[in-house]
Amino acid sequence: MGFPTHRPRRLREDPRTRMMARETVLAARQLILPLFVSEELSSPNPIKAMPGNFQWPIGMVERPIREAMEVGIPAFLLFGLPVKKDSQGSPSWDSDGVVPRALRHIRKVCPTAYLITDVCLCAYTDHGHCGLLDGEGHILNDETLPILAKMALAHVQAGADMVAPSDMMDGRIGFIRRFLDENGFSRTPIMAYSAKFASSFYGPFREAAHSAPQAGDRRGYQMDPANAREALQELRLDFDEGADVLMVKPGIAYLDIIAAARKEFPCPISAYQVSGEFSMIKAAAEKGWIDEKAAVLESLISLHRAGADWIITYFAREAAVWLKEIA
Ligand code: PBG
Repeated sequence: MGFPTHRPRRLREDPRTRMMARETVLAARQLILPLFVSEELSSPNPIKAMPGNFQWPIGMVERPIREAMEVGIPAFLLFGLPVKKDSQGSPSWDSDGVVPRALRHIRKVCPTAYLITDVCLCAYTDHGHCGLLDGEGHILNDETLPILAKMALAHVQAGADMVAPSDMMDGRIGFIRRFLDENGFSRTPIMAYSAKFASSFYGPFREAAHSAPQAGDRRGYQMDPANAREALQELRLDFDEGADVLMVKPGIAYLDIIAAARKEFPCPISAYQVSGEFSMIKAAAEKGWIDEKAAVLESLISLHRAGADWIITYFAREAAVWLKEIA
């Protein structure tokens, strides 16, 4: 029953039917903008590998928040850059640390912004790993959990609406969930970086967040890009431990994982279009090799089509404007 009975082009040629036949629509309300907040800066510091992104002083971080909210972005993912780091990552759970201070400030000046915080030790440890290390450089998984829980609690007490653990320690979602519940925060949701792969696409972020490991790499705790079944296991563990939202990260190279997650779980699925995905599009566009707006919209709609309800992207503000133009 093929051609000439079926001519799929018939609905494509007229822009009106093309529009009516569109299956997937993305809105600004589904985008989350990541932001970097620094404890020591007094003016915004451009992140070289991520053109248009800055490390913000605490007292100025409302600037990108206001700009994004004006075009309909509801939510923000905050990363902190502390002045001091140590082997235990102790500045991470200081109630007067960079993220709690930023949260209190933003709460005052932008009370309706939805604030999500990244919970991970890599920007707070002097060795740059996401968990504690023993004398031989092995990750101390279980010993890291109470520290992550204290970090999450410090964020929530300072006003975070949601916490997003990105450390990839086993058991952290359940541990953080119980700790928040015990401390009176059973209403605060957790977005778990569940299927987080050990990816080369995080390169530019390490400059942005000063979080590169001083020795070794993250393959002992982040996932092997070759593994899809294991990704489903990671997603399952976090869901069963009480995660409210499950994340797949990075985005475009992992559409199969997003689609599988969407099929398997009833909760919202988020995808993180990471720093390297952002910078590749930017760099090619700056060279005139691709059309930035078209490439951004195509990558975002693909993530949404694959099954991501929410997308974390450094393009959030621009994309919100462009999405309105095509709506
Ligand atoms: C912290 C963390 C990373 C990213 C988000 N949280 C870096 C890493 O795991 O190495 C990457 C975000 C990006 O590349 O945009 N663990």
